[in-house]
Amino acid sequence: MQDHLLEISKNILAESDVDLVLTLAIDHMLELTGAERGLIILFDDKGNEIFQTARRLSKKDIEHPKFQVSFTIIHHVRSTGQPLCLQNAFEDSTLQKSESAARLKILSVICLPLLLHEKLFGVLYLDNRTVEGIFEKSACDFATRFADFVSLAAFNSLERKKLTNRLESLEQELRIKYDFTAIIGHHPQLVKTLKIISQIAEADATVLIYGESGTGKELVARALHFNSSRRDKPFVPINCSAFQENLIESELFGHSKGAFTGAYRDKIGWFQKADGGTIFLDEISEMSPALQAKLLRVLQSGEFSPVGSAKILKSFVRIVAATNRDLPTLVQHGSFREDLYYRLNVIDIPLPQLRERKSDIPLLIDHFLDKFGHHHSIRQKALDMLLQYDYPGNIRELENIIERAAILAREKSIDMEHLPPMLTLHEKSSVSHHAGKTLTQAKRSAAQNAEKEYIIDYLRASHGHITNAAKMAGVDVSDFHKAMKRHKIYPGEFK
Ligand SMILES: Nc1ncnc2c1ncn2[C@@H]1O[C@H](COP(=O)(O)OP(=O)(O)O)[C@@H](O)[C@H]1O
Ligand SMILES: [Mg+2]
Repeated sequence: MQDHLLEISKNILAESDVDLVLTLAIDHMLELTGAERGLIILFDDKGNEIFQTARRLSKKDIEHPKFQVSFTIIHHVRSTGQPLCLQNAFEDSTLQKSESAARLKILSVICLPLLLHEKLFGVLYLDNRTVEGIFEKSACDFATRFADFVSLAAFNSLERKKLTNRLESLEQELRIKYDFTAIIGHHPQLVKTLKIISQIAEADATVLIYGESGTGKELVARALHFNSSRRDKPFVPINCSAFQENLIESELFGHSKGAFTGAYRDKIGWFQKADGGTIFLDEISEMSPALQAKLLRVLQSGEFSPVGSAKILKSFVRIVAATNRDLPTLVQHGSFREDLYYRLNVIDIPLPQLRERKSDIPLLIDHFLDKFGHHHSIRQKALDMLLQYDYPGNIRELENIIERAAILAREKSIDMEHLPPMLTLHEKSSVSHHAGKTLTQAKRSAAQNAEKEYIIDYLRASHGHITNAAKMAGVDVSDFHKAMKRHKIYPGEFK
C-alpha cells in the first residue's frame, strides 16, 4: 500500500500539466476510496472558476438538473472550508433544505476543500450513487490527507503554467518589437538573453558575450547591432586570433604609408570606416598585450592612432567582444589586462551550451531543415539520437549535422544512417563503453573519464571558480585550465 502511494505521488508530481495532475489525482482517489465519479474545480484569487476536471462525469451529467445537489454540496464546502463526508446524502440536513432528496439518488459523498496556506483555491468532489456508506471514516480521513497533497501538486503546476505563460508573452512581446527571427529557441535562458539584448541594444556600452564555441555569440552580436539605431552603419566582425598582430592592428586602426614592410600606402582602419557602427571582436582573449593597450585607449577616450602615425583620430564605434575562455582566469595569469577586462565587461551576456537547453533541439532542427531546403521530416529514432547527444560544438555542430544529413537523405526522411557515425558510437558507448577497445585504450579512456569527472567535481564544489577549484584539487591553475580545455569543460556551467 505504501509503495503504491509513493508510486501514485510520483506519477502526479511528474506531470506538469494542471489538467493531467487533476485527472490523475481523481483517478487515484476513485481507486483508493471506491468512489464512482469525481470532480475537481479550481478558483483564482478573485474566486472565478479557472479549472474543472471530471472523471466518469460528462459535461451533460454536470449540466443536468440532478447534479444541482452536488453543486449544493460543493458550494457548502467552498463557503465553510470544511470537509464533508456523507454516508447517506438523502438524510443529510444540508441537502434536505435545497432539493427533494429522494430524487437525487446520491448516496455517498466525499467533498473536500483544496487549501494552500489555509486559503481555499479549489474543491474536490467524489460520490457513489449506488452504495450507501461506502466511504468509511478511514477512507474519509485518508482522502482529506491526500487532498492536501493534491492541493500542493495542483498549485505547483498552476504556478508553473503562469510562469510559462509569462515567459511566452514576454518572448512574444520581444519578438514583435525586435527582429530576433534568426535566433531560435524558447528555453528560459535564451529568452532571458533576448530580454537583455532588447534592453541594451540602444546603449553605447561595451558588451562582453561569453560562451562555448558555436553557442551563437556572433548571432547575438549581430542582433544587438541590427536592433539598434546603428543598423545603417557597418557591423564589422574581426576574429582576433585569425590575424598576425601587426595585421590586426592595421585592420582596426589603419596605418600610414611605410609604417611596416608592405605598407605601400595609407590604409583606413575599421574604427574609422565603421564610425557609428559596431565592431565585433571575437576571441578577444587572443589579443596581444600591445593591442590590448590600444583598445583600452579607444574604449576610454574614443581616440586612436593609425600604425606608424602620430595623428589622433576619434571614433564612436560600439565594441561587442566575445570569448570562449574564462577571462578572469586569464587576468589572474596576467595574460589579459584587468583594466581592459572591466572596460569590456560593462554588460555581460552568458550564452548557455546546447546541452543545457536540449528542449530547443527539435525547434533548431526544424529551423535548419528549412534553411537547407529539406522538405522531408526526420524519423523518431534519428531525432532520439540527436536529442541524446552532448554537442561539444553546440549549435554550430547541430547545424552541420543537419546540413550533412539533408544532403545525404536527399528526397527521403532523415534517418539514423544519415547522421554522423560519432552519434551512433556515442549511443553504443552508453551500452558498453569498452567494446572494441584494446586494454590499453580502455585504460586510457577510463583515466580520461576519471580526470573529467574529477575536474567537474571540483568546479561544482567551487561554483565554477577555477582558481579555487584548482587549489582544492591541489593542481596548478594552468594545468587545471588545460585539462578543462581538453575536456571542453566550461566554468559558467557550475555557477
Ligand atoms: N539560437 C540560435 N538559433 C538559430 N541558429 C543559431 C542559434 N545560435 C547559433 N546559431 C547558429 O549556429 C552557428 C554558430 O553560431 P555563432 O554565432 O557563429 O557561434 P559562436 O560565435 O558562439 O561560435 C551559426 O550558423 C548560427 O547562425
Ligand atoms: Mg564565433
